[in-house]
Amino acid sequence: MKRNILITGGAGFIGSHVVRLFVTKYPDYRIVNLDKLTYAGNLENLRDIEDRPNYRFEKADICDFDTVCELFRRYDIDGVIHLAAESHVDRSIRDPFTFARTNVLGTLSLLQAARLYWEAKPEKYEGKRFYHISTDEVYGALELTRPEGARSDFSAHEVYGDEFFTEETKYNPHSPYSASKASSDHFVRAFHDTYGMPTVVTNCSNNYGPYQFPEKLIPLFINNIRHEKPLPVYGRGENVRDWLYVEDHARAIDLIFHKGKVADTYNIGGFNEWRNIDLIRVLVRTVDRLLGRPEGASERLITFVTDRAGHDLRYAIDSRKLKNELGWEPSLQFEEGIEKTVRWYLEHQEWMDRITSGEYELYYETMYRYR
Ligand code: NAD
Ligand code: DAU
Repeated sequence: MKRNILITGGAGFIGSHVVRLFVTKYPDYRIVNLDKLTYAGNLENLRDIEDRPNYRFEKADICDFDTVCELFRRYDIDGVIHLAAESHVDRSIRDPFTFARTNVLGTLSLLQAARLYWEAKPEKYEGKRFYHISTDEVYGALELTRPEGARSDFSAHEVYGDEFFTEETKYNPHSPYSASKASSDHFVRAFHDTYGMPTVVTNCSNNYGPYQFPEKLIPLFINNIRHEKPLPVYGRGENVRDWLYVEDHARAIDLIFHKGKVADTYNIGGFNEWRNIDLIRVLVRTVDRLLGRPEGASERLITFVTDRAGHDLRYAIDSRKLKNELGWEPSLQFEEGIEKTVRWYLEHQEWMDRITSGEYELYYETMYRYR
């Protein structure tokens, strides 16, 4: 094998797209998927590639340092793409310790295992790479300086402020989730500065697409519209997010893993801002149309609920550095991406049903029904 790459969190939403891309595009790389299979990890996301000869799955916790070290030795790992994390802001508000454990200590455990393994080799860090996947949420929140004139049609594009997050923006996380991701980003950079580890960090905006766990806005709402359940909109639905199709994120990760500059940071985003309430109306119309209902009929399901504590108002990524230096651009228009995504969830109801039963259902009930 030309390379032995450890991808963590490969059974999750973004991780499964990254694993699929690498396994199919690089048959001469061995791809080792390390995942604890928490509530968010689902091997069903990888059924189509699980028998490929260059793919291995290892069920393990990134915090289990001895096991991680053993995996580095067993597979002679020379590259890491680290996605494993607790990823849902609402859960972090209820249970911050789990986020600190996985996102901070887990990342440190991986860094230290990589350091010990690579430093013991004659060539040391040559040809190695530790790529940490982070989020735009570490930058905090931007002002909404142009809240009026929100889009009213499907294809309009609106920019909700003059400021964007750049790679120079100061870290200012607000939720336990973003604080834990910010902390892990600092550890990764510290391992470069202290030990010379060839690291790279990317901060990406909100992803959407197939296989996303239905606690996140888009899959949760598609499923609720289908089943005519209430759509819990936090606050007044005015918060703005910058949406990117998940396969475009996976393509960026591929490019940056191979061509990104050591010790550098790249922001990834689609210049695609949407107010939550406008996005929700697009989802409603798309699901209604595809189910043969009168378009917009499901708007009656929209229910304004108590706002998320510390709810960041606006995220907007400036990804020009990635475009200018490495030539990456999103490939999909939002309309096309949303249509594909809604179709995918409607056509994969069994996937959704298996997830929304059992343990997750209990959490889901306490989280949304009794609000
Ligand atoms: P996800 O919650 O869908 O998947 C996380 C995966 O990590 C799951 O498979 C889970 O089993 C695994 N995992 C959790 N704890 C683990 C542990 N201790 N050991 C091993 N595996 C563990 O998350 P996602 O949305 O795919 O996000 C992946 C990464 O991308 C995260 O680091 C997240 O912070 C980052 N990110 C996500 C988005 C987004 O919009 N979803 C945007 C930017 C960055
Ligand atoms: O910006 C990148 C981040 O995007 C990632 O780092 C996180 O892992 C990912 O979960 C996502 O965070 P958000 O909090 O933005 O995503 P979420 O889907 O939870 O919410 C999107 C917006 O919709 C947010 O403003 C909160 C709102 N919302 C969400 C849910 C689940 C609602 O109004 N109602 C809901 O039920």
